[in-house]
Amino acid sequence: MTSQQATLFRTHSALETVHVQEGTQVVLSGWVQRRRDLGSIVFVDLRDRSGIIQLVFDTSKGTPAQVMEAADRLRNEFVIAVQGIIVNRDESAVNPKIETGKIEMTVHALEILNEAKNPPFYIQDGVDVDETVRLRYRYLDLRRPEMQNILRLRHRLIKEFRAFLDENAFVEVETPILTKSTPEGARDYLVPSRLQSGEFYALPQSPQLFKQLLMVSGLERYYQVARCFRDEDLRADRQPEFTQLDIEQSFIPLDTFQAMMERMMQSVFHTVLGVELTVPFQRIAYQEAMEKYGSDKPDLRFGMEISDIGNLVQGVDFRVFQQALESGGAVKAIAAPGCAGYSRKQVDELVNFVAQYGLKGLASISVLEGGELKSSLSKFFTPEQLQSIAAGVGAKAGDLILIAASSRQQVLQSLGALRLKLGYELNLADENEFKFAWVTDFPLLSYDEDEQRFVAEHHPFTMPKWEDLDMLESNPGAVRAQAYDMVLNGYEIGGGSMRIYRRDIQERMFRTLGFSEEQANEQFGFLLRAFEYGTPPHGGIAFGIDRLVMIMGRGKSLRDCIAFPKTSSGTDLMMDAPSPVSDKQLDVLNLEIRQRQPVQPRV
Ligand code: AMO
Repeated sequence: MTSQQATLFRTHSALETVHVQEGTQVVLSGWVQRRRDLGSIVFVDLRDRSGIIQLVFDTSKGTPAQVMEAADRLRNEFVIAVQGIIVNRDESAVNPKIETGKIEMTVHALEILNEAKNPPFYIQDGVDVDETVRLRYRYLDLRRPEMQNILRLRHRLIKEFRAFLDENAFVEVETPILTKSTPEGARDYLVPSRLQSGEFYALPQSPQLFKQLLMVSGLERYYQVARCFRDEDLRADRQPEFTQLDIEQSFIPLDTFQAMMERMMQSVFHTVLGVELTVPFQRIAYQEAMEKYGSDKPDLRFGMEISDIGNLVQGVDFRVFQQALESGGAVKAIAAPGCAGYSRKQVDELVNFVAQYGLKGLASISVLEGGELKSSLSKFFTPEQLQSIAAGVGAKAGDLILIAASSRQQVLQSLGALRLKLGYELNLADENEFKFAWVTDFPLLSYDEDEQRFVAEHHPFTMPKWEDLDMLESNPGAVRAQAYDMVLNGYEIGGGSMRIYRRDIQERMFRTLGFSEEQANEQFGFLLRAFEYGTPPHGGIAFGIDRLVMIMGRGKSLRDCIAFPKTSSGTDLMMDAPSPVSDKQLDVLNLEIRQRQPVQPRV
């Protein structure tokens, strides 16, 4: 162990040494990436946050004997400070893989600032380590350059968002984390109150109501980098605790607001990635997105659109198709380019894939070179009928047409998923393209069979389209919302709407959602009251910052874009949270645990 106080303090980062003159004396500090002992010479790769530089311990070049001895003790991840001179490497020793590869440091003095146990995995990019180990030792995982790059990207992104919004007169306001549990939306995280025994705060699922109230306050332009909490089932693009860029603005028509958000994305992508985006972004109505792509967040980097072939197969004596059509379902198809030669086994794999959406099978037609068709349907369809399907789908030679028949929803969902799977496998989506779009004209409400009532598609504060407002009571399912999502490469990166700003319309909305007047007042009285004091027309949006970082950094999982994320069962493996608390803590809160019963394993 070292017992001395540190005396060497860095003069340069590893990367900065590239710019110093040969022979300059510098002090560097960082971690031992690796040590190679060649007997009379010891090489050490020193890593700091800027990069890696090679240190040379060599008595023939002036390293004192006691420094050579200390160098013998160095192991991976020891923290050291070294003093020495920067020298050019021999031509034959240049390492093109690192930015400092043309130089090295001859060490004259070494201080071991701290020792390190052998880490559970090697600190380098692309490590093949179980994610649970990475999460348990997250502080080591974050030492890896690729993780640090993501954190820096995240920092720059947020900084540029703030800069744009500041320039455009938006004011950042913090809103409470301990707030009120309200119905609608996802499940709340609850926090028991000690002072109001037996009562609970909820952590905010978003600052939605606060930002609307700030518009009532006359702030006119608000934003916040806001932490949100939702107790929902997790997926690769969902975390229980995530960050939104939350925005609200008063006195502005929908399209002007959208244009402002497009300019913001344009500015941020330019500064952060050097990518030039073209505005306005494509607009696609929800219905059209569902029909063409089987998704309300379509990846528009490639085509392979879904075609309806119901009218082309109508009347043909093929039971599966007829049954689907007779029961009000649909027959639809996609054409996968270059897949006409797929083997039976390959097609079966696709059938297995769609089975997870409840689809019983897929019919297929191969369009061979020269236009000849080969199909599992040739027993039931004439060659002319098959040709008309191929033409209807817009298939070309080499395409494999895949046909699904079932309920409309099941057909769209499974062909939508199949389109993405094939599109990515066939490399149809350009990794370097950022394809933005607005999805618009969402339905305001959908009918929830379990709850036997209408629920808000976005949230209950979304303004119906004025022209549909009259149907709010008579035909709620047909009312369209003044709501919009921003989608990017197959992800919903933001969602927002123009808001209800009149008490009478908000009350009608609550009634349509099945709230009694009493319930509406109990849950949302503060909002309805506020609406009586001169509320300006307003609207806004919230962007998922974690998702944006994931897409911009070309990551696969949201967990890689968050410094300290949770696992899919909502646990923090490093801190081991959540954790039981003492009886004393529970007593203070007047709480009792009935039975400890984990719902999911802890990973
Ligand atoms: P919404 O619920 O659509 O809207 O959320 C906005 C955006 O936040 C991101 N997001 C998530 N990211 C990671 N993990 C999650 N669990 C998660 N849930 C949502 C998505 C989404 O597009 N208050 C409204 C916004 C508004 O109307 O202004 C809201 O929260 O990228």
